Amino acid sequence: MQRIDNPFSPGAGRKPAALVGRDVQIEIWESNLHRIENGLDFRPMVLYGLRGIGKTVLLSHLGEISTAHEWIVARFEANTGISLRELLSKELENRLADVAKNGVSSKVLNALKTALSFRTDVGLPGVFTFGIDLSSVSGSNANTGDLSGDLYRLITDLSAATEETETGVALLIDEAQDLSADDLSALSELVHRATQDNLRLSVALAGLPTLPGILSKSKSYAERLYEYKELQPLSPSEAADALTTPVAKTGVTWDDAALSKIVEISHGYPYFLQEYGSACWLAAEKSPITIHDTKLAINSATAALDEGFFRSRWDKISESQRDYLRAMAVDNDGVSLSKDIAMRLDSELTALSPRRAELIRKGLIYAPRTGELAFTVPLMGAYIQRQVEE
Ligand SMILES: Nc1ncnc2c1ncn2[C@@H]1O[C@H](COP(=O)(O)OP(=O)(O)O)[C@@H](O)[C@H]1O
Ligand SMILES: [Mg+2]
Repeated sequence: MQRIDNPFSPGAGRKPAALVGRDVQIEIWESNLHRIENGLDFRPMVLYGLRGIGKTVLLSHLGEISTAHEWIVARFEANTGISLRELLSKELENRLADVAKNGVSSKVLNALKTALSFRTDVGLPGVFTFGIDLSSVSGSNANTGDLSGDLYRLITDLSAATEETETGVALLIDEAQDLSADDLSALSELVHRATQDNLRLSVALAGLPTLPGILSKSKSYAERLYEYKELQPLSPSEAADALTTPVAKTGVTWDDAALSKIVEISHGYPYFLQEYGSACWLAAEKSPITIHDTKLAINSATAALDEGFFRSRWDKISESQRDYLRAMAVDNDGVSLSKDIAMRLDSELTALSPRRAELIRKGLIYAPRTGELAFTVPLMGAYIQRQVEE
């Protein structure tokens, strides 16, 4: 069938035609918005899971819900080496430019001035910004150098600006494991104070399975502060939904055998469902999609995954790091014990620990428990085994 009508969307952060299996997280977020709009407190959320499990698209969806509620939405992706202050101020500048266009109360002007002071590079805010004269607006100084206090002043003023409209501020941070420990600690302090003081702020952080551990390490009370939600692979019936709902919109159906085959081969991982679904669409001449179509599609989609999804990670690491992953792949995609890896590499545990740490830092593996390791990329083990066989 035609590429132009293909309803599947394989690719990092690409919005799926049907976002399935995430009702619980969406419900928590919606209840947060309602609670805050009614002056109640909120439950900050941490969404974590493997690569391709759907963190980014869920976070975007939560952002869209907040925008529909006319909230001030700051959504961005953390990046190693870039400070939270820089990321947030850039994002807010864009959002506040929109807010400022919609006619402004004194509280909004105040928040605007505070937000401008939050930036590192400009020092005191300019007089004219967004074409608005801010010279007689007081604002707060959110650039004292104490990040946690600055964040608190910033969010307090933004929160006050949303009181009149009974909205709030949504803060959504993707790849949060890449924020520095200091930034994460300041962020947790902010969230803690915001919940205590009933600020009109709702927060969701998304990241790899390392994120909960990194958060607790940066702030001891983080464990109790957030509601942790692991994004799991979709169940077989949810996976079937992710395949049938998008095509149903165009009147196309799946044969049962074809559907089961793709559900099985995707193991419930959203990225794989999109990639295999897309290949099936392209392979099929017409509706319904048959088992014959899936045979062609599985070959082409597996090749596409190997060349893109897996290869992009594999290419980023050194040969000795690859050896480490090859030793893990002996356990397929289950958990590996670090002592087994050491044995397979004929090496000492301590000698391997820098290599292991670097692979964790690069976000390729994580330690589900002490002495255990697993891939952050689903089915990476199977990919590595395919390379070894070649
Ligand atoms: N709940 C879902 N239902 C269907 N498809 C999804 C779902 N979540 C994600 N996807 C698809 O999976 C792929 C990866 O999603 P993404 O959000 O980038 O994952 P992550 O950020 O966890 O790496 C995208 O192609 C997206 O369209
Ligand atoms: Mg992502």
